[in-house]
Amino acid sequence: MEIEEKVRKKRAEGIDIIDFGIGDPDLPTPPAIVEEVKRQLDDPENHRYPSSSGEPEVRRAVADWYKKRFNVSLDPDGEVVILIGGKEGIANICRAFVNPGEKVLCPDPGYPVYSQGGTLLSDAVPIKVPIRPEKNFLPDLDSLPSDARLFYLNYPNNPTGAVVTKEFLWRATTWCTETDTIFCYDNAYSEMTFDDYVAPSALGCCQGGRLIEFGTLSKTFNMTGYRIGFAVGDAKLVAGLKKVKAQIDSGAPMFIQKAMIKALEMYNGAERPQVVMDNIKVYQERRNVMVKGLRALGYKIDPPKGTFYLWLRVDMPSMKFAEKMLNAGIVCTPGVGFGEFGEGYVRFATTQPVARIEEALERMAKM
Ligand SMILES: Cc1ncc(COP(=O)(O)O)c(C=O)c1O
Repeated sequence: MEIEEKVRKKRAEGIDIIDFGIGDPDLPTPPAIVEEVKRQLDDPENHRYPSSSGEPEVRRAVADWYKKRFNVSLDPDGEVVILIGGKEGIANICRAFVNPGEKVLCPDPGYPVYSQGGTLLSDAVPIKVPIRPEKNFLPDLDSLPSDARLFYLNYPNNPTGAVVTKEFLWRATTWCTETDTIFCYDNAYSEMTFDDYVAPSALGCCQGGRLIEFGTLSKTFNMTGYRIGFAVGDAKLVAGLKKVKAQIDSGAPMFIQKAMIKALEMYNGAERPQVVMDNIKVYQERRNVMVKGLRALGYKIDPPKGTFYLWLRVDMPSMKFAEKMLNAGIVCTPGVGFGEFGEGYVRFATTQPVARIEEALERMAKM
């Protein structure tokens, strides 16, 4: 927020800003989905209160997608809930299951909603789970406290771009079962992966257990502004989330929910459809240009296999680096904003076209 305020001032001064700050796709929603939203909006039936759990046919579409994409079978009535974006469910799951004073394991660096919107707003205690480059940004399961109520984990990872193996997910789900910890797996970037990497679902890597997984259309289909996502998994966890939601919201607008069906039906099997692959191609090219440019400037960075983020080690406090960048008209996010262990890094979201990335690299070179 501090950076945003500074950016606003710079823009007001007429300074040209290249913004790699927020993970908000600059590419448009695929036209077929936009058309479907319009079509659904024309139907007065869709102007009414939706169900806060999600319309039955929409839950069915999510279950069908899980079968196609991950070969995971779900009961659409008991094991699927539609969300107003993944963030909403990630925050509300704590309201449903975490009591004041209980411990919640939160990756650090990590998506801030785990420790703040989820944990702190429930008067619970966030426990930092360091994810470090020496361990490929995976947590050390053997060193985690076993008395926590809930454990958030997210791969492909924001902010590091790290990815996970099925084997690791097996270990994480087993650890949660053994310690009776609720496992919240955030798979927001499951479809945004590069090279040959295909992201698994944690649900495909466990034998039951108290696991809930979060998904969203935000990044896959460039739909951040529509606010639509879902959570799937253990029926008791899904029921708890539905119960909280029923008291807080009235569900995602029906015309958005129903358009989600069209988006998910674009998948014929596990393969990502053309519209998604077109996006991936764009982000992969940007990633490559950025990595090559940063390396030419002397930075050490590996191309991430997932997400549209680049997590760059810098040789000064991250806030100071971000400020210097801002003076050159470039916005990146200081790593410390993602937690204590994010210090010394900055995050770039490659939400700018290649020409702007090249311009930013030139500015950095001059600096
Ligand atoms: C790791 C992670 N999870 C969840 C979300 C939530 O996305 P949305 O609420 O748009 O579905 C984001 C968004 O940036 C994210 O980075």
